[in-house]
Amino acid sequence: MKFQGSDSYIATQDLMLAVNASITLTRPLLIKGEPGTGKTMLAEEVAAALKMPLLQWHIKSTTKAQQGLYEYDAVSRLRDSQLADLDASDRVKDIRNYIVKGVLWQAFTSEQPVVLLIDEIDKADIEFPNDLLREIDRMEFYVYETRELVKARHRPLVFITSNNEKELPDAFLRRCFFHYIRFPDAETMKAIVEVHFPGIKKELLGAAMKTFFDVRGLPGLKKKPSTSELLDWLKLLVAEDIPLEALQSKDEKVAMPPLVGALLKNEQDVTLFEKLVFMQRHNR
Ligand SMILES: Nc1ncnc2c1ncn2[C@@H]1O[C@H](COP(=O)(O)OP(=O)(O)O)[C@@H](O)[C@H]1O
Ligand SMILES: [Mg+2]
Repeated sequence: MKFQGSDSYIATQDLMLAVNASITLTRPLLIKGEPGTGKTMLAEEVAAALKMPLLQWHIKSTTKAQQGLYEYDAVSRLRDSQLADLDASDRVKDIRNYIVKGVLWQAFTSEQPVVLLIDEIDKADIEFPNDLLREIDRMEFYVYETRELVKARHRPLVFITSNNEKELPDAFLRRCFFHYIRFPDAETMKAIVEVHFPGIKKELLGAAMKTFFDVRGLPGLKKKPSTSELLDWLKLLVAEDIPLEALQSKDEKVAMPPLVGALLKNEQDVTLFEKLVFMQRHNR
Protein backbone atom coordinates (compact mmCIF):
# COMPACT_ATOMS: atom_id res chain seq x y z
CA MET A 1 0.00 0.00 0.00
CA LYS A 2 1.58 3.22 -1.15
CA PHE A 3 -0.01 6.62 -1.61
CA GLN A 4 1.24 8.54 -4.63
CA GLY A 5 -1.14 11.46 -4.91
CA SER A 6 -3.98 11.50 -7.42
CA ASP A 7 -5.35 13.28 -10.46
CA SER A 8 -7.56 15.52 -8.37
CA TYR A 9 -5.25 16.13 -5.43
CA ILE A 10 -1.78 17.63 -5.50
CA ALA A 11 0.34 16.01 -2.82
CA THR A 12 3.82 17.31 -2.20
CA GLN A 13 6.68 14.85 -1.73
CA ASP A 14 6.80 15.35 2.03
CA LEU A 15 3.06 14.84 2.37
CA MET A 16 3.23 11.52 0.49
CA LEU A 17 6.14 10.50 2.71
CA ALA A 18 4.11 11.31 5.79
CA VAL A 19 1.10 9.30 4.62
CA ASN A 20 3.27 6.30 3.86
CA ALA A 21 5.17 6.65 7.13
CA SER A 22 1.94 6.48 9.09
CA ILE A 23 0.90 3.41 7.09
CA THR A 24 4.23 1.74 7.86
CA LEU A 25 4.10 2.62 11.54
CA THR A 26 0.38 1.77 11.70
CA ARG A 27 -0.08 4.97 13.66
CA PRO A 28 -2.66 7.70 13.05
CA LEU A 29 -1.52 10.55 10.87
CA LEU A 30 -2.11 13.86 12.60
CA ILE A 31 -2.40 16.63 10.01
CA LYS A 32 -2.30 20.28 10.87
CA GLY A 33 -2.32 23.31 8.64
CA GLU A 34 -4.27 26.46 7.91
CA PRO A 35 -7.94 25.94 7.07
CA GLY A 36 -8.36 25.20 3.38
CA THR A 37 -5.00 23.53 2.82
CA GLY A 38 -6.53 20.18 1.90
CA LYS A 39 -6.47 18.30 5.22
CA THR A 40 -9.95 16.84 4.97
CA MET A 41 -9.58 16.18 1.28
CA LEU A 42 -6.39 14.23 1.90
CA ALA A 43 -8.24 11.46 3.74
CA GLU A 44 -10.83 11.29 0.97
CA GLU A 45 -8.13 11.07 -1.66
CA VAL A 46 -6.07 8.44 0.15
CA ALA A 47 -9.20 6.31 0.58
CA ALA A 48 -10.02 6.64 -3.11
CA ALA A 49 -6.44 5.98 -4.21
CA LEU A 50 -6.06 2.87 -2.03
CA LYS A 51 -9.62 1.76 -2.87
CA MET A 52 -10.63 1.65 0.76
CA PRO A 53 -13.99 2.76 2.17
CA LEU A 54 -13.91 6.04 4.07
CA LEU A 55 -15.60 6.53 7.41
CA GLN A 56 -15.79 10.14 8.55
CA TRP A 57 -16.26 11.50 12.02
CA HIS A 58 -16.68 15.27 12.03
CA ILE A 59 -16.00 16.60 15.49
CA LYS A 60 -18.03 19.40 17.07
CA SER A 61 -17.55 21.22 20.35
CA THR A 62 -20.13 18.93 21.94
CA THR A 63 -18.75 15.63 20.59
CA LYS A 64 -17.78 13.06 23.20
CA ALA A 65 -15.34 10.20 22.65
CA GLN A 66 -17.98 7.70 23.72
CA GLN A 67 -20.15 8.66 20.74
CA GLY A 68 -17.47 7.25 18.45
CA LEU A 69 -17.70 3.90 20.21
CA TYR A 70 -21.41 3.44 20.88
CA GLU A 71 -24.40 5.01 22.59
CA TYR A 72 -27.08 3.37 24.64
CA ASP A 73 -30.48 4.58 23.47
CA ALA A 74 -32.39 4.48 26.76
CA VAL A 75 -35.19 6.69 25.47
CA SER A 76 -36.21 4.28 22.71
CA ARG A 77 -36.08 1.40 25.13
CA LEU A 78 -38.33 3.17 27.56
CA ARG A 79 -40.77 4.05 24.81
CA ASP A 80 -40.83 0.44 23.55
CA SER A 81 -41.44 -0.80 27.06
CA GLN A 82 -44.56 1.33 27.24
CA LEU A 83 -45.97 0.01 23.98
CA ALA A 84 -48.47 -2.82 24.17
CA ASP A 85 -47.41 -4.67 21.04
CA LEU A 86 -45.56 -7.97 21.25
CA ASP A 87 -42.74 -7.10 18.91
CA ALA A 88 -41.74 -4.19 21.06
CA SER A 89 -41.85 -6.12 24.30
CA ASP A 90 -39.60 -8.76 22.73
CA ARG A 91 -37.19 -6.10 21.63
CA VAL A 92 -37.07 -4.50 25.06
CA LYS A 93 -35.71 -7.68 26.65
CA ASP A 94 -32.47 -7.50 24.74
CA ILE A 95 -30.37 -4.45 25.53
CA ARG A 96 -28.34 -5.04 22.38
CA ASN A 97 -31.24 -3.66 20.35
CA TYR A 98 -30.59 -0.28 21.92
CA ILE A 99 -26.86 -0.05 21.44
CA VAL A 100 -26.13 2.35 18.59
CA LYS A 101 -22.78 1.72 16.96
CA GLY A 102 -20.42 4.67 16.56
CA VAL A 103 -17.94 5.34 13.77
CA LEU A 104 -15.07 3.58 15.54
CA TRP A 105 -17.14 0.46 16.07
CA GLN A 106 -18.06 0.46 12.38
CA ALA A 107 -14.42 0.95 11.43
CA PHE A 108 -13.28 -1.87 13.72
CA THR A 109 -15.81 -4.39 12.50
CA SER A 110 -15.80 -3.56 8.80
CA GLU A 111 -15.23 -6.51 6.43
CA GLN A 112 -12.29 -4.78 4.80
CA PRO A 113 -9.78 -2.27 6.15
CA VAL A 114 -11.11 1.28 6.06
CA VAL A 115 -9.78 4.81 6.19
CA LEU A 116 -11.07 6.56 9.29
CA LEU A 117 -11.12 10.34 9.33
CA ILE A 118 -11.42 12.11 12.67
CA ASP A 119 -11.90 15.62 11.36
CA GLU A 120 -11.07 18.76 13.36
CA ILE A 121 -10.24 17.05 16.62
CA ASP A 122 -9.34 20.41 18.18
CA LYS A 123 -13.02 21.40 18.13
CA ALA A 124 -13.84 19.03 20.98
CA ASP A 125 -13.00 19.64 24.60
CA ILE A 126 -9.57 18.91 25.99
CA GLU A 127 -10.48 15.45 27.33
CA PHE A 128 -11.60 14.14 23.97
CA PRO A 129 -8.21 13.03 22.59
CA ASN A 130 -7.22 11.49 25.93
CA ASP A 131 -10.46 9.53 26.04
CA LEU A 132 -9.60 7.87 22.74
CA LEU A 133 -6.03 6.88 23.56
CA ARG A 134 -6.74 3.31 24.54
CA GLU A 135 -9.04 2.62 21.62
CA ILE A 136 -6.53 4.01 19.15
CA ASP A 137 -3.65 2.14 20.77
CA ARG A 138 -5.18 -1.24 21.41
CA MET A 139 -7.82 -1.10 18.71
CA GLU A 140 -10.44 -2.48 21.05
CA PHE A 141 -13.03 -1.32 23.57
CA TYR A 142 -15.44 -2.83 26.01
CA VAL A 143 -19.22 -2.50 25.88
CA TYR A 144 -20.32 -2.53 29.51
CA GLU A 145 -24.02 -2.88 28.79
CA THR A 146 -23.60 -6.15 26.88
CA ARG A 147 -20.27 -7.25 28.39
CA GLU A 148 -18.68 -7.65 25.02
CA LEU A 149 -15.25 -6.71 23.79
CA VAL A 150 -15.17 -5.11 20.35
CA LYS A 151 -11.84 -5.80 18.70
CA ALA A 152 -10.69 -4.43 15.36
CA ARG A 153 -10.67 -7.03 12.60
CA HIS A 154 -8.33 -4.81 10.66
CA ARG A 155 -6.47 -1.79 11.87
CA PRO A 156 -8.05 1.21 10.14
CA LEU A 157 -5.89 3.83 8.52
CA VAL A 158 -6.56 6.79 10.80
CA PHE A 159 -6.33 10.44 9.73
CA ILE A 160 -6.78 13.10 12.37
CA THR A 161 -6.96 16.75 11.37
CA SER A 162 -6.55 19.83 13.51
CA ASN A 163 -6.81 23.54 12.79
CA ASN A 164 -4.67 24.22 15.84
CA GLU A 165 -7.39 25.87 17.90
CA LYS A 166 -6.25 23.88 20.92
CA GLU A 167 -3.07 22.11 21.95
CA LEU A 168 -3.29 18.33 21.96
CA PRO A 169 -2.08 16.32 24.97
CA ASP A 170 1.45 14.86 24.84
CA ALA A 171 0.25 11.31 25.45
CA PHE A 172 -1.93 11.63 22.40
CA LEU A 173 0.80 13.15 20.24
CA ARG A 174 3.16 10.33 21.13
CA ARG A 175 0.86 7.90 19.36
CA CYS A 176 0.61 9.80 16.10
CA PHE A 177 2.78 10.54 13.14
CA PHE A 178 2.67 14.28 12.60
CA HIS A 179 2.59 16.32 9.44
CA TYR A 180 2.08 20.02 8.95
CA ILE A 181 0.74 20.99 5.53
CA ARG A 182 2.67 24.11 4.77
CA PHE A 183 0.89 26.75 2.76
CA PRO A 184 1.53 25.88 -0.92
CA ASP A 185 4.25 27.84 -2.68
CA ALA A 186 3.38 29.50 -6.01
CA GLU A 187 4.43 26.45 -8.03
CA THR A 188 2.32 24.02 -6.01
CA MET A 189 -0.60 26.44 -5.98
CA LYS A 190 -0.49 26.65 -9.77
CA ALA A 191 -0.68 22.88 -9.95
CA ILE A 192 -3.64 22.83 -7.53
CA VAL A 193 -5.49 25.47 -9.53
CA GLU A 194 -4.89 23.58 -12.75
CA VAL A 195 -6.47 20.49 -11.22
CA HIS A 196 -9.64 22.48 -10.58
CA PHE A 197 -9.58 24.68 -13.70
CA PRO A 198 -7.86 22.74 -16.44
CA GLY A 199 -7.00 25.03 -19.32
CA ILE A 200 -7.44 28.27 -17.40
CA LYS A 201 -5.88 31.22 -19.26
CA LYS A 202 -2.25 31.67 -18.23
CA GLU A 203 -2.44 35.46 -18.03
CA LEU A 204 -5.53 35.43 -15.87
CA LEU A 205 -4.04 32.83 -13.56
CA GLY A 206 -0.76 34.73 -13.33
CA ALA A 207 -2.46 38.02 -12.47
CA ALA A 208 -4.87 36.40 -10.01
CA MET A 209 -2.08 34.54 -8.25
CA LYS A 210 -0.05 37.72 -7.93
CA THR A 211 -2.99 39.55 -6.36
CA PHE A 212 -3.71 36.57 -4.12
CA PHE A 213 -0.17 36.33 -2.75
CA ASP A 214 -0.07 40.15 -2.38
CA VAL A 215 -3.20 40.00 -0.27
CA ARG A 216 -1.79 37.13 1.79
CA GLY A 217 1.42 39.05 2.32
CA LEU A 218 -0.40 42.03 3.80
CA PRO A 219 0.90 42.43 7.35
CA GLY A 220 -1.75 42.44 10.05
CA LEU A 221 -4.47 40.46 8.26
CA LYS A 222 -6.85 38.77 10.66
CA LYS A 223 -7.62 35.92 8.29
CA LYS A 224 -5.36 35.18 5.37
CA PRO A 225 -7.17 33.76 2.35
CA SER A 226 -6.27 30.13 1.66
CA THR A 227 -6.38 27.67 -1.20
CA SER A 228 -10.13 27.21 -1.15
CA GLU A 229 -10.63 30.98 -1.19
CA LEU A 230 -8.37 31.35 -4.20
CA LEU A 231 -10.34 28.61 -5.96
CA ASP A 232 -13.67 30.33 -5.16
CA TRP A 233 -12.33 33.63 -6.36
CA LEU A 234 -11.03 32.17 -9.64
CA LYS A 235 -14.37 30.49 -10.20
CA LEU A 236 -16.06 33.89 -9.91
CA LEU A 237 -13.50 35.63 -12.10
CA VAL A 238 -14.10 33.05 -14.81
CA ALA A 239 -17.88 32.99 -14.40
CA GLU A 240 -18.20 36.77 -14.40
CA ASP A 241 -15.76 37.04 -17.27
CA ILE A 242 -13.70 39.66 -15.42
CA PRO A 243 -11.23 41.27 -17.85
CA LEU A 244 -7.54 40.85 -17.18
CA GLU A 245 -7.11 44.62 -16.85
CA ALA A 246 -9.27 44.64 -13.75
CA LEU A 247 -6.59 42.57 -12.03
CA GLN A 248 -3.52 44.35 -13.32
CA SER A 249 -2.72 47.91 -12.48
CA LYS A 250 -0.54 49.67 -15.03
CA ASP A 251 1.67 51.31 -12.46
CA GLU A 252 2.61 48.21 -10.43
CA LYS A 253 0.58 49.56 -7.54
CA VAL A 254 -1.82 47.54 -5.49
CA ALA A 255 -5.45 47.95 -6.48
CA MET A 256 -8.61 46.71 -4.86
CA PRO A 257 -9.26 43.34 -6.50
CA PRO A 258 -12.72 42.71 -7.97
CA LEU A 259 -15.01 40.42 -5.93
CA VAL A 260 -12.70 40.80 -2.97
CA GLY A 261 -15.34 39.23 -0.73
CA ALA A 262 -14.16 35.84 -1.93
CA LEU A 263 -10.72 36.51 -0.46
CA LEU A 264 -11.21 38.73 2.58
CA LYS A 265 -13.81 37.65 5.07
CA ASN A 266 -14.03 40.45 7.58
CA GLU A 267 -14.40 44.20 7.50
CA GLN A 268 -11.14 44.92 9.31
CA ASP A 269 -9.16 43.14 6.62
CA VAL A 270 -11.04 44.92 3.83
CA THR A 271 -10.41 48.28 5.54
CA LEU A 272 -6.73 47.41 5.95
CA PHE A 273 -6.49 46.67 2.27
CA GLU A 274 -8.33 49.85 1.29
CA LYS A 275 -5.94 51.88 3.44
CA LEU A 276 -2.96 50.33 1.70
CA VAL A 277 -4.42 51.11 -1.72
CA PHE A 278 -5.21 54.65 -0.61
CA MET A 279 -1.72 55.26 0.78
CA GLN A 280 -0.02 53.97 -2.35
CA ARG A 281 -2.18 56.23 -4.52
CA HIS A 282 -1.13 59.27 -2.54
CA ASN A 283 2.56 58.46 -2.31
CA ARG A 284 3.17 58.90 -5.99
N1 LIG B 1 -3.50 19.82 -2.58
C1 LIG B 1 -4.71 20.09 -3.10
N2 LIG B 1 -5.06 19.60 -4.30
C2 LIG B 1 -6.27 19.89 -4.83
N3 LIG B 1 -7.20 20.66 -4.24
C3 LIG B 1 -6.91 21.19 -3.03
C4 LIG B 1 -5.66 20.93 -2.39
N4 LIG B 1 -5.64 21.57 -1.20
C5 LIG B 1 -6.82 22.20 -1.10
N5 LIG B 1 -7.60 21.98 -2.18
C6 LIG B 1 -8.95 22.55 -2.40
O1 LIG B 1 -9.29 23.31 -1.26
C7 LIG B 1 -10.53 22.85 -0.73
C8 LIG B 1 -10.45 22.87 0.78
O2 LIG B 1 -9.77 21.74 1.23
P1 LIG B 1 -10.11 21.04 2.62
O3 LIG B 1 -9.61 19.64 2.55
O4 LIG B 1 -11.54 21.22 2.95
O5 LIG B 1 -9.22 21.91 3.61
P2 LIG B 1 -9.05 21.80 5.17
O6 LIG B 1 -9.71 20.51 5.60
O7 LIG B 1 -7.57 21.80 5.36
O8 LIG B 1 -9.70 23.01 5.73
C9 LIG B 1 -10.75 21.47 -1.28
O9 LIG B 1 -12.11 21.22 -1.49
C10 LIG B 1 -10.03 21.51 -2.60
O10 LIG B 1 -10.91 21.99 -3.58
MG1 LIG C 1 -11.32 20.33 6.86
